[in-house]
Amino acid sequence: MDLKEKISKAFEERFGNKGTVYASAGRINLIGEHTDYNGGFVFPGAIDKVIMAEIAPNGTDKVRAFSIDINDYAEFGLNEEDAPAQSWARYIFGVCREIIKRGGTVKGFDTVFAGNVPLGAGLSSSAALESCFAYALNDLYNDNSIDKFELARIGQSTEHNYCGVMCGIMDQFASVFGKKDHLMRLDCRSMEYEYFPFHPEGHSLVLLDSVVKHELADSPYNKRRASCERVAKRLGLETLRDATMEMLDSVKSDITAEDYFRAKFVIEEKQRVLDVCDALVAGDYETVGRCMYETHNGLSKDYEVSCEELDFLNDIAKECGVTGSRIMGGGFGGCTINLVKNELLDKFVAEAKTRFNERYGHEPKVYEVIISDGAHKEA
Ligand code: GLA
Repeated sequence: MDLKEKISKAFEERFGNKGTVYASAGRINLIGEHTDYNGGFVFPGAIDKVIMAEIAPNGTDKVRAFSIDINDYAEFGLNEEDAPAQSWARYIFGVCREIIKRGGTVKGFDTVFAGNVPLGAGLSSSAALESCFAYALNDLYNDNSIDKFELARIGQSTEHNYCGVMCGIMDQFASVFGKKDHLMRLDCRSMEYEYFPFHPEGHSLVLLDSVVKHELADSPYNKRRASCERVAKRLGLETLRDATMEMLDSVKSDITAEDYFRAKFVIEEKQRVLDVCDALVAGDYETVGRCMYETHNGLSKDYEVSCEELDFLNDIAKECGVTGSRIMGGGFGGCTINLVKNELLDKFVAEAKTRFNERYGHEPKVYEVIISDGAHKEA
């Protein structure tokens, strides 16, 4: 049974009718990590792994929601004091509240949802969930009058105000704007974006999931952001977007060593996104790959969001001659993203599985991803 059939069957059993089905995607990011909340560039794409929800208005002022994957049910009202206790339900509640706060309409509905975006793997399952509901409630109650950027911001504000993660806009942007076979370069300051066709000749993208889970709420993620904001303030800038290494070095003695290295990574990473986009257009995968390794190194040593398991997977990639490899997403666990020559793919995956298993007692999970469309109504 596919995802849609599974959801429709559960919806009918629970609520006795049929609703409309919507989906939104998880994402990868080729390069540009922790740059979004610094006004820099990111280069993500939506993937063929989604959160899907069937939804039907129920004529009440209550939301009744069932998560197939967590096997849990929640019922909540739409006022600020009605926030549900379950963290998964707070994503849906937050999206409803953020639409209402912006003057939009949300009324009671029934929903059943499920997904195949691995949880806690750095593939933005939470942004997929938020974007799925933001898109659906825009269609069902607001005549699609909320524009796509605002849908992404509704998801981001949900994270900020209901889930405790001060994230940037990348994940929700990718989930809403994703386009089959294209990566998107987003300038997170001007919000201008460009689609880049992505057909890496002779290469595949493979993700290796360390299965180390990360919890971003109340976490080092927010601390990284605070470091960057402190340095920007010290430089008299709104964000690190306009900072240079010269400027950073000029205040080195006034800031902590930790803040210095956080900002150094962001300044370097900003340029790498532009370099990778140029290299991709030129078909220069060696440069793309080299930048990916540099990003990993910076995320591990300067930004300190890697972990032993991910550094180990990165080392294996390097030793196997993989073109590019790095930790992906917020960090503190999750996946590495690997750009691998097709003829090397099987050998690399086999070797990574064996060596990781020897050291950590379990294999990494392997996901081959296809760049796909973002939020949509199912036909
Ligand atoms: C998480 C956040 C994003 C972004 C990445 C790091 O995925 O949700 O906004 O900051 O981490 O690039």
